[in-house]
Amino acid sequence: MEIKKVGVLGCGLMGSGIAQVAATGGFDVTVLEQEQKFLDKGFAGIEKSLSRLVERGPAKGGLTAEQKTEAQSRLKGTTNMQDLADCDIVVEAIIENVDLKRKIYGELGGIVKKDAIFATNTSSISVTELMTATKRPERFIGLHFFNPVPMMKLVEVVKTIATAGDVYDTAVEFGKKLGKVPVRTSDKTGFIVNRLLVPYLLDAIRAYEEGVGSMTDIDEAMKLGCGYPMGPFTLLDFVGLDTTYYITEVMYDEFKERRFASPPLLKRLVLAGWFGRKSGKGFYDYADPNKPVPGTFV
Ligand code: CAA
Ligand code: NAD
Repeated sequence: MEIKKVGVLGCGLMGSGIAQVAATGGFDVTVLEQEQKFLDKGFAGIEKSLSRLVERGPAKGGLTAEQKTEAQSRLKGTTNMQDLADCDIVVEAIIENVDLKRKIYGELGGIVKKDAIFATNTSSISVTELMTATKRPERFIGLHFFNPVPMMKLVEVVKTIATAGDVYDTAVEFGKKLGKVPVRTSDKTGFIVNRLLVPYLLDAIRAYEEGVGSMTDIDEAMKLGCGYPMGPFTLLDFVGLDTTYYITEVMYDEFKERRFASPPLLKRLVLAGWFGRKSGKGFYDYADPNKPVPGTFV
């Protein structure tokens, strides 16, 4: 099937990025949020990202000013689910909570046209478990993008036991049109990247709690020693401590292995509402976003 109209659920860190790359990829995009203020925040992030890409310029993989304007003309925000009725694909990027995701799929099923594809951007939740909340299991797939979506080339394509072959092929082509490299994975919790990345991030917190090094030294060590663009604490704050914590809950429930269990410090920060960059404070304090100050927790 040909995809022309894209729906995106959620305009947060990931939904806004997915909407942006779909619009720059030439698709008409409608983003659904629960409240206008979240749309405003997400669209402000899109504006900032597109401006950075215009600054970078087409020669370095960025955009022209015209491409930015064209992309923004294809982007629409709404708080009314009915506006997604004629979408050919709906990419869901709402909070990492299985009940909320299942609920929205249940509501969406009766509104969006029958042959539309539903694609979840979940980090860890079983795509099969989400699929069973709909009456279109064969048209349900995982499309797991990476943060920040405009910069990260990977999209993990998660085919369940029920996903139809033509839906899988359409999703792969869609990922390519968004400028991504699709990698196929099965519906195993955490898929490929998070299965490997989450234990590393959690071990960084445990190493800090055990006095192996300061947060800044651990960050610096992984950047200089392994060539990582961000150290683990910077990356945790970038991904969002709330999202990371929700992911650990799902992964530990699946594997019952300590390496996937949330360290107590992570849980305390999330309970305190310290979600990282998105809330202004996490492992680091972003009062001055250009000069993050590490917290003292041990
Ligand atoms: N939009 C547009 N342009 C952006 C951008 C964005 N969101 N972020 C960075 N850029 C551009 C900047 O404008 C800059 O361009 P110029 O070189 O022309 O100035 C360039 O990219 C470099 O940006 P920065 O100097 O700010 O920083 P950087 O060089 O470190 O790049 C980064 C930023 C690409 C985010 C890099 O730090 C990085 O790759 N970090 C690791 C991200 C990562 O690991 N993501 C995966 C997280 S796990 C996940 O996503 C899965 C899950 O389920 C949780
Ligand atoms: P976020 O908190 O930045 O955004 C979630 C958005 O969902 C919020 O804006 C919220 O208002 C919206 N939302 C919640 N309920 C809604 C509803 N019923 N209708 C419409 N909007 C609703 O979270 P995020 O980091 O963008 O993560 C979203 C999804 O993407 C999660 O499943 C997460 O696991 C996954 N993901 C996150 C990352 C990351 O690095 N943060 C990377 C890949 C995948």
